[in-house]
Amino acid sequence: MKNIQEVQASAIKRDGKNISLWQHVESPLINTHPSSSKHYDVIIIGAGITGLTTAILLQEAGKNCIILDHHAPAFGTSGGTTAHLNTYFDTSYPQIEKDFGEDAAKLVAQSGKESIQLINDLIDRYTIDCDFTYLNGFLYAEDEKQSEELNEILASSKKAGVVVERAESNHIPIPFKDIICFHHQAQFHPVKYLAGLTKAFQDLGGIIKLNTFVDETGFDEGFHFAKSEDIKILAHQLVHATHYPQGINLFNFTCAPYRSYAIAVKLEDENYPDALVYDMQDPYHYFRTHTENDEKYLIVGGADHKTGHGDPEESFNDLIAYVTSYYRIKEITHKWSSQYYIPADGLPYIGHFTGQEEGCYVATGYSGNGMTFGTLAGLMISDAILEKQNKFKDLFNPSRIKPIAGFKEFVKENSDVAWRFIKDRISSKNLSSLEEIENGQASLITHDGKKIAVYKDEQGNLHALQATCTHAGCIVNWNAEEKSWDCPCHGGRFDIDGHVLAGPPQTKLQKIEIE
Ligand code: FES
Repeated sequence: MKNIQEVQASAIKRDGKNISLWQHVESPLINTHPSSSKHYDVIIIGAGITGLTTAILLQEAGKNCIILDHHAPAFGTSGGTTAHLNTYFDTSYPQIEKDFGEDAAKLVAQSGKESIQLINDLIDRYTIDCDFTYLNGFLYAEDEKQSEELNEILASSKKAGVVVERAESNHIPIPFKDIICFHHQAQFHPVKYLAGLTKAFQDLGGIIKLNTFVDETGFDEGFHFAKSEDIKILAHQLVHATHYPQGINLFNFTCAPYRSYAIAVKLEDENYPDALVYDMQDPYHYFRTHTENDEKYLIVGGADHKTGHGDPEESFNDLIAYVTSYYRIKEITHKWSSQYYIPADGLPYIGHFTGQEEGCYVATGYSGNGMTFGTLAGLMISDAILEKQNKFKDLFNPSRIKPIAGFKEFVKENSDVAWRFIKDRISSKNLSSLEEIENGQASLITHDGKKIAVYKDEQGNLHALQATCTHAGCIVNWNAEEKSWDCPCHGGRFDIDGHVLAGPPQTKLQKIEIE
């Protein structure tokens, strides 16, 4: 059995210190290209599920594609998901029906089915061994109010064309009042799947450039371009597959960043669910089983909060306490968190990037359904580039004018952002000495009227940074669990040396030398 240091050393890298259950696979092999061309048909920024699905569908169709990734495939949320594939989404069918109409609800249901089918097809086509399994998904109510809501979900989901019915068991040892079962959901190993897509894409002639942080994109003399330090790559089309596109843009105001928490545990007994299971709490808990090397793991997620706002340690503690109260746990083997974005009106934004030249695409706002909607985005954007009709185009169009659904909630989110701008400027500590910070701890301090983000590592070395986020000027907060500085405004995340881990910032936090 490997110790924790060995596990961390051999795991593929991700945007946080904690290691997810998926990171123990070998890194996807990336070919090197001594003399890479500077002109392509399509530039895709981001090698997560959105970028790789888009890339492989375009490369299959004869397009010459390049993927640029700041790090490596699955470094972001695709390596930290719990990989549920659903036809039932965080925005429920009654809500979609109410805000967008019955036909829209039917389209959303179809989008889920077609996305799962596409994943299945790609797995078959490229013989990807990624533990893909079809399973039933169970949604259960714990009180009268939730039961009423569950009945509405059952009726609207059926109307939308989803195969769903009442059920008898929730497959987990948690009491419930009512339950429904969604048929033909699925789960897989996300990093093995992306490794398979990575290989297939390269076998088809696609290019992937790792460790390439795109600091500028634009349109120049008839070409889209992406710049990274001194490299400028040109293409006919450009796809932003990084959740938020970088820089200040519309999506900073229409999508709110959240973090979700997951743990993987081994049980004393064999009480592992052979199903995907969800409660109706807010935030909700989600359950699945994964088997690796004949060992079973129960994966439970939940305890979500807005990025930079909650206490990650408390979220993990809550989640562990919750699971412990129902299961006999032998060992907690993994705990990790990842980021997702909630859209203002409840549906993702996929398609032409509003305000940009034709041929520039974006996909974001997947809520907690990133594997399904990321795959849908790959299908929709590749169809747009290949000039094929796509029935989902109007529904998910990023330029759609609203918001309606959840608008009140979203206004609250945005006023919260505004409040952070003010509060951030008054809340840091005035330490008399940096020695007050213990090893392994961090603090925001004020020096000469400036906010400084200081982390003291386990060896006592100080890592000090300007605490003002380079995106739009909020003050970052310390994430003690993932050892990162997280911005409460739009989810920008930075490592202890200021490098951008996630979100819209285009430049690192400036280092401050401390004598
Ligand atoms: Fe927008 Fe930090 S991510 S201000």
